[in-house]
Amino acid sequence: MHSRPFLWLVLALPGAWILGRWGATPDLYGYGHAIADSGDWAAWLLLATLAVTPVRLLFRRRAWAQWLMRHRRDLGVASFAYAAGHTVIYLVRKASLETIVNELSTPYILIGWLAFVLFVPLAITSNDIAMRRLKRSWKRLHRLVYPAAILTFAHWVLSAYDPTTAWIHIAILAVIELVRLGAQWRQRVT
Ligand code: HEM
Repeated sequence: MHSRPFLWLVLALPGAWILGRWGATPDLYGYGHAIADSGDWAAWLLLATLAVTPVRLLFRRRAWAQWLMRHRRDLGVASFAYAAGHTVIYLVRKASLETIVNELSTPYILIGWLAFVLFVPLAITSNDIAMRRLKRSWKRLHRLVYPAAILTFAHWVLSAYDPTTAWIHIAILAVIELVRLGAQWRQRVT
């Protein structure tokens, strides 16, 4: 019941680690590491968020699966927080509006921005008040997470010198979605 503050503390640890290392050893751990690590954590938490529904469908009666379901929005918001930090790191590094606008012509940067733009309304509406107000449209709106996830992983593939790691994550995303669709089809829920 009171596990939310503890969960947030745990979710903040990688962020503290990134900032701590950057602050303590800026020569060893610079922009390159910070942008990669913040991107990784945003992507991992996104996968974790998307895995909650299939896990809940497979382990319906388990208390831990229900706990995860209750905290699905926290995981999603945490993913967004890392994506926002990732974006701030990029913006601070580029420092000029001209450079930032010019780089929109780089496909992986544009795709990153598109993913980010899709995540904004999801993060804003990941609270009880928005859920109550939006009623049935909440679920419809939050289906945007699927195109946003695809854009995120396309961003990763296109940004990487060696995209193997990105493809491994796409395979994990595909497994998560296949399990979800299979379990939903079997249990006739959406
Ligand atoms: C707001 C627009 C975004 C910009 C400008 C941006 C920028 C970047 C940059 C510059 C890199 C480093 C590429 C390199 O290795 O040289 C990167 C990598 C990455 N970004 Fe983004 N990004 C954006 C949005 C996102 C979002 C929304 C996510 C996830 C939800 C994300 C996840 C990643 C991941 C996973 C990587 C690869 C990290 C790695 O190599 O391990 N990015 N991004």
